[in-house]
Amino acid sequence: MALAAARARNDVPTLQAVASVAAASDLISARGVSVTMGSGRHRQVILDNIDLSVPEGSFVSLIGPSGCGKSTLLKVLAGLVEPSTGRVSVAGHAPADAARRRMIGLVFQDANLLPWKNAVDNASMLLSIADPTLSKAALRERGQAMLDLVGLGDAAHKMPNELSGGMRQRVSIARSLALDPAVLLMDEPFGALDAITRDTMGQSLLEIWERTGKTIVLVTHSIDEAVHLSKQVHVLGIKPGRIIETLDVPLPYPREVSIVEHPDFIRLHNGLRALLRDSHRPGQPS
Ligand SMILES: Nc1ncnc2c1ncn2[C@@H]1O[C@H](COP(=O)(O)OP(=O)(O)O)[C@@H](O)[C@H]1O
Ligand SMILES: [Mg+2]
Repeated sequence: MALAAARARNDVPTLQAVASVAAASDLISARGVSVTMGSGRHRQVILDNIDLSVPEGSFVSLIGPSGCGKSTLLKVLAGLVEPSTGRVSVAGHAPADAARRRMIGLVFQDANLLPWKNAVDNASMLLSIADPTLSKAALRERGQAMLDLVGLGDAAHKMPNELSGGMRQRVSIARSLALDPAVLLMDEPFGALDAITRDTMGQSLLEIWERTGKTIVLVTHSIDEAVHLSKQVHVLGIKPGRIIETLDVPLPYPREVSIVEHPDFIRLHNGLRALLRDSHRPGQPS
């Protein structure tokens, strides 16, 4: 079933079909979004005229040089930063409303687990705050189900200091999924992990995506990760932060780690690397 859904998701519609369904099927949409900070001489355009559409159930990556505004864009989508101009909608709501309705899950580079709580209690921590009426048993059950989903079912009683970096990050993903958000916004979630753990985590994330059907927006600085995982990659340029190119990744799912050897993967990887070189050149604010 999950496989069939994944195959269906991977259908590459004609351009015309994309144009006609885009508005209806977009879970996230940003139009003309700019963010400026400071004033006078210190006024800085951080994001300039961003248009972004993320179809429901899609997996997209944002990649670009450090300081180009990737985290700021994610915060705009999460309702944590108010854009200076433009409109953003998440599942038909303003981002802050969508966040209040628990439609948005956030995952950061640092897992930020509570050191005095075990894995299963950390996994249900946000849910316990969101719904204080839930019993301890119900929270444990949900926490355990989420740990099972992220491949940590056997580590429920481990404390954070007994877990590896990759395992802690799995708990942090479980903690977000426990709220059953429609959207998962991930800011360099694997940035602090070693290369092998990173590959495994990416593969796990794909499996979680296929099983849950969440819409995922991933910020990454890894070209391999962007091409391996996503259906679409948005390349951001710097000064001001803007989308300079959007690259479709028409490789079929499920994608294994060995996909990096596929000629199409290598072609896309090289294309993305060339775009990233361009992304370091400052542009002109519109
Ligand atoms: N709260 C803030 N106040 C002022 N400048 C900020 C703030 N947050 C981010 N910036 C600036 O915005 C730019 C983009 O930052 P960020 O979104 O963190 O980039 P990235 O995640 O791509 O590295 C940087 O120049 C950063 O210094
Ligand atoms: Mg960042």
